[in-house]
Amino acid sequence: MLMSGDETPPNGPARRQFLRGAGLLTGGLAVGGTVGAIVGDRGANNGAAADSRAQATVSTAQQAATQPGQSSSTFHGSHQAGITDHPPAHLRFVALDLAPATLAGKKPAIAELQKALSDAASSMTSGNWITPQGLVAQGLDARGLTVTFGFGPRLIRAAGEQLPGPLAPIPAFPTDELDPARTGGDLGIQICAPDELLASSVAQALVELAAPAAQPRWMQSGFLPGANAQDPNGTPRNLMGQLDGTDNPVGSRLELAIWVSGNVGPSWMAGGTYLVCRRIRMLLADWHKLAVPAREAVIGRRLDSGAPLSGGTEHSTPSFSALGADGRPIIARNAHLRLTHPATNAGSTMLRRGYSYDEGLRADGTAQAGLFFQAFQTDPRSVFVPIQQRLAATDALSPFIRHEGSALFAVPPGGPQGSWVGQGLLG
Ligand code: HEM
Repeated sequence: MLMSGDETPPNGPARRQFLRGAGLLTGGLAVGGTVGAIVGDRGANNGAAADSRAQATVSTAQQAATQPGQSSSTFHGSHQAGITDHPPAHLRFVALDLAPATLAGKKPAIAELQKALSDAASSMTSGNWITPQGLVAQGLDARGLTVTFGFGPRLIRAAGEQLPGPLAPIPAFPTDELDPARTGGDLGIQICAPDELLASSVAQALVELAAPAAQPRWMQSGFLPGANAQDPNGTPRNLMGQLDGTDNPVGSRLELAIWVSGNVGPSWMAGGTYLVCRRIRMLLADWHKLAVPAREAVIGRRLDSGAPLSGGTEHSTPSFSALGADGRPIIARNAHLRLTHPATNAGSTMLRRGYSYDEGLRADGTAQAGLFFQAFQTDPRSVFVPIQQRLAATDALSPFIRHEGSALFAVPPGGPQGSWVGQGLLG
């Protein structure tokens, strides 16, 4: 059970003891390092001696679980992982609120928490566990596991720093049905993994590690289809059956769309990005009542191939001026594709990295399922907000979806081995 932040100050003995127990205060971190080093030996030698040394260390620590040669952590780098990499099948997103005592402890208290979380994430993504969940995750392959941190407005203010402009509150939209319990958060942690037990264990480890300095505000699970046998790198389908992510930017367009340049805003955000999360429920029973051509008209793309209705294949450029036999635009004026395409939004674009969710049934028997929309961009004020304003006003998709949760995070850059995420702001 989580203790309230009021009960135990973040720098107080109980918290220190906890972090030390988890091997995450300065001395303890060496434990993680040691395990990692021996694991490195295992991977390199692949021999019985190295294996038994590793086993001995692991059982002495009674914490670590790993597999030889099965970790290739991307945690450290100029950008955080979990953004441009191919999204694996499982998501856990945890939004935490800082406890009152942590807020009161300002920058040092927040830094202590964030360093502990970042170091733990660095260890776990390398296959080295220094938390009890290591026993759950033992034998699982840590390759493909990513942990991405984002900071909410209150955390930045509590650290005594000015809020970057792009973190201005997202305005209310007329179609919003936001639940405060699924909205906001001081610290957002995106965990992506090819295995659900791994994603779940990492999320649990980080939540337990954060207590009592921060408590979960909301948590979101998500999934993507397994690799398509015909096209392993193909665009995933969402729960409406659409190929979702077709026109995500790539190459230099992607770089420009998401990474904050050093000339704009605070220096601690250079090489970072901003993340908008929206929990969007789908009214699937209503959607399925539509005939396939009507469903295709809502988006402006074919359901089978994802090709624009104006013709071609999935990645063909849509023609918004093409007219049908009836003299009307083939891609309707209120089609989702027309309203969101860069050509109709002064070139604005974002990287969408959403996950489907399915939480069973609601009290009325309808699906508690939809899309956990995540979009990375340089400035939501000029990308997400105006596009969502257009969607809320006229999108043909609106009758079939409900926005129920919303959050906005500043996602700082990554850093070299030995650094921790957020060091530029909190260090
Ligand atoms: C449940 C809600 C949503 C569903 C099911 C959905 C579905 C789709 C589909 C099927 C496409 C076309 C294929 C593709 O390029 O990915 C698309 C494109 C797009 N959507 Fe959504 N979408 C949703 C919500 C949103 C929201 C809230 C925004 C932003 C405010 C948004 C922004 C975009 C953008 C920017 C594109 C790409 C346009 C282009 O470059 O062609 N979508 N969406």
